[in-house]
Amino acid sequence: MILALLYACATEATEACDPEGVTWDTFTAGFVSGRCQACHGAGSTDRHGAPEAIHFEDQAETSAQLDLVRDSVLVRGSMPPAGGLTDAELEHLAHWLDCPE
Ligand code: HEC
Repeated sequence: MILALLYACATEATEACDPEGVTWDTFTAGFVSGRCQACHGAGSTDRHGAPEAIHFEDQAETSAQLDLVRDSVLVRGSMPPAGGLTDAELEHLAHWLDCPE
């Protein structure tokens, strides 16, 4: 029963996957490097207290933290701490989180 539900969800997610031209290369790589890595980068020298474990060096690492990124940026709006993201950035990020290609 649980397996059937998981399968149903996975299938749904695949069908809903519509990147609308937003990919790691066209958007997300630049976004995390410009908006997040100053504090979160593995090599950051001034983390402003950002947790050591949270960084977004590449697509694999960022894809492994989709829920954290969605929650902190889109749901709570707590990241980046100073805010300032444009509507376009928020929209593109939402597309990429739905379809992290
Ligand atoms: C100016 C520095 C700074 C920038 C830029 C920044 N962060 Fe953070 N981040 C922090 C600090 C400090 C914490 C720990 C304190 C906290 O949780 O508020 C944190 C915590 C987090 C956490 C874990 C806690 C939580 O809120 O879920 C996530 C996930 C996160 N950041 C994601 C991001 C993403 C994604 C971006 C880029 C859109 C980003 N951060 C940009 C400083 C920063």
